[in-house]
Amino acid sequence: MTKMKIAGTGSFLPELVVTNQMMTRIVDTSDEWITTRTGISERRLSSGEPTWFMAAEAARKALAEARLEPAQLDIIMVTTCTPDYYLPSAACIVQAELGAERAFCFDLNAACTGFVYALDMAARYLLDPQIHNILIVASENISKLVDYSDRSTCVLFGDGASAVVCSRGTDEDPSALLATKLGSEGRTGHVLVSRALKVRHPFLADGAVWPDRFGEHSDHTLTMEGQEVFKFAVRVLADSVLEAAAQAGVNLTELRYIIPHQANARIVEAAARRMKANPAQIISRIADFGNTSSASIPICLDELVRAGKLLRGEKVAICGFGAGLTYGAAIFIY
Ligand code: UT7
Repeated sequence: MTKMKIAGTGSFLPELVVTNQMMTRIVDTSDEWITTRTGISERRLSSGEPTWFMAAEAARKALAEARLEPAQLDIIMVTTCTPDYYLPSAACIVQAELGAERAFCFDLNAACTGFVYALDMAARYLLDPQIHNILIVASENISKLVDYSDRSTCVLFGDGASAVVCSRGTDEDPSALLATKLGSEGRTGHVLVSRALKVRHPFLADGAVWPDRFGEHSDHTLTMEGQEVFKFAVRVLADSVLEAAAQAGVNLTELRYIIPHQANARIVEAAARRMKANPAQIISRIADFGNTSSASIPICLDELVRAGKLLRGEKVAICGFGAGLTYGAAIFIY
């Protein structure tokens, strides 16, 4: 257990709403197929706002909520698989935007599981007496990777960002991170892929070809074996929550909420059945936002906090999965 308090949350969602009906204009699909197979009705897409911009907007809201000045931040972590630059990191850009001069900054890419990994890391950093406040921002313009001629993937994703400030907890407040269970299964990485740049320089021999690790990809567009990801997701979401709960000595019935990565309503329902959770505990906001990758869990968390539906002292489980393949769960007292 680490005395860690989520001191503030904040999100940024682009204004552009793309409905299922609008999707039918670009691919052979229907509102009926998308809603019944995924639970998604609409998603937000960037109107050009870069990943760093959305991150900084979400971060400002989380800092205001935490009543902290940017100069009080020791670390800024940005979880993203869709940065605007290979370098500098999105976290360094956010630092400059906020004026958080004291912080050290880095990006973390665990795809859609990024936020769960970051929360685990934040708790570990907070064991260091020199670290007091950590900003985690999950910011994703996943639309940059999507092939809008592929109906099996393009209907799923949305853009957005969300941030939390994690501060060292005091003895007076109940907040704590109780347990985490993280994992990766790199051997099944081929089921969800987006390729980066290939080696190219003036000294490359003519015809030098190194095959792509995951089959030929002409560019960065995302490819996915949906059913394989689906089966993986149901298994790891349920099992990682159960393992984290056992580690924490927490019965699932004690959890106020379970917030899963928002990828498909059917995945969430099947995982809830597998872990024998009460459906009333499960948060599903996929209908309005689609899959916003690592931002999906903190967007839900922020909504609950702002709506006054999550109170100090209540226990929450979050669980994610994504490309890598990666997965993880964390249980904390808000
Ligand atoms: O953050 C992690 C990212 N990824 C995920 O979490 C995705 C996990 N997987 C899934 O959510 C589901 O597998 C999908 C939503 C991607 C697909 O649903 P499914 O029930 O597994 O459908 P399917 O792939 O078995 O396809 C069934 C049919 C196919 O047609 P045929 O071959 O049966 O004629 C597809 O071509 O549905 C067709 N199809 C569509 N039809 C209308 C696939 N996408 C669409 C579409 N509209 N958008």
